[in-house]
Amino acid sequence: MQSVKLNTGYDMPILGLGTWKSDKKKVQKAVEYALECGYRHLDCAYCYLNEEEVGAGIKNKINDKTVKREDIFVTDKLWCNSHKPEDVRPALMKTLESLQLEYLDLYLIHWPMGFQKRGTEAFPKDENGKVLFDDTDYVDTWKAMEDLQKEGLVRSIGVSNFNQFQINRILKECSVIPAVNQFEIHPYLTGESLVNYCQEKCIEVTGYCPLGCGDRPWGMKADDPVLLKDPKLLEIAAKSNKTAAQVALRYLVQRNIIAIPKSVTPERILQNFQIFDFNLCKDDMKTINKMNTNSRICPMPEASEHKYYVFRENYSE
Ligand SMILES: NC(=O)c1ccc[n+]([C@@H]2O[C@H](COP(=O)([O-])OP(=O)(O)OC[C@H]3O[C@@H](n4cnc5c(N)ncnc54)[C@H](OP(=O)(O)O)[C@@H]3O)[C@@H](O)[C@H]2O)c1
Repeated sequence: MQSVKLNTGYDMPILGLGTWKSDKKKVQKAVEYALECGYRHLDCAYCYLNEEEVGAGIKNKINDKTVKREDIFVTDKLWCNSHKPEDVRPALMKTLESLQLEYLDLYLIHWPMGFQKRGTEAFPKDENGKVLFDDTDYVDTWKAMEDLQKEGLVRSIGVSNFNQFQINRILKECSVIPAVNQFEIHPYLTGESLVNYCQEKCIEVTGYCPLGCGDRPWGMKADDPVLLKDPKLLEIAAKSNKTAAQVALRYLVQRNIIAIPKSVTPERILQNFQIFDFNLCKDDMKTINKMNTNSRICPMPEASEHKYYVFRENYSE
């Protein structure tokens, strides 16, 4: 399996299994099957509400000797309701307990925007249905993440959905450079500028929604383009004897971007892994780059009025 070298010295497999929206009843089998196919990287998060099932899958495959713990790369993410520095370590411990692991390979701040802590609610709301924000500075959250790394509970730390301004503040004000920034990347949102910025700063990039997230929980609108049915992608796929999904994943890998397609369907889990036996030529890469329409699938509208809302135009603080 091809991997990228993180600035911490650890290798991160360039392909991983995504687990957002993966049904609790299906995700354990999906994880087990993925590990049997050869996947060695799992992308998880507290707010996906399925860490226990993912952990059970990992445990089974360690017990039956398909993999050893040190052979797999597990990423998890700190949810927005635990941004206060004193909440960071307990949140990680809960995640480790759910996954039945002693350490994570990579722990990310899921979003720069914090929410108040109200029990286990992912999106705590007031009586008018507005999300209750917490203005903890993500720089302070990051410093608490650094402590987790020092303690050996996580091997690498990183961020997710951070813009260039926000990363730059971390670089200026903190001592650990993020190992990874995970954000949305696919042929309709190619993200050149942020990808280049991160890669120049030795921050590896993970691209989420690499297949266009056809199962987005808020549903597809009638005029939303369906990535995997895009004629340009299908044409490249036909000529390469591959599927549109495989082309979309290969497109990321050839840009040295880590791809984390989600599937709970065995044939697709296997298909998404079979992307290391072909190449997209320069012209194909150019054609896909030109498909960019800057359309974002996950704009996190619930937090658009937050002080640190990442997608504000001409962002500054
Ligand atoms: N950091 C963040 O804020 C953030 C945000 C979004 C996502 N993520 C991570 O990125 C992962 C991937 O993104 P995503 O889940 O949003 O979307 P995605 O991977 O782009 O798409 C998932 C959808 O594609 C289907 N699919 C998978 N392989 C396929 C294939 N070969 N052919 C046709 N359809 C296929 C899946 O169906 P089945 O499952 O039914 O097979 C599912 O409906 C997430 O699971 C999560 O781990 C992170």
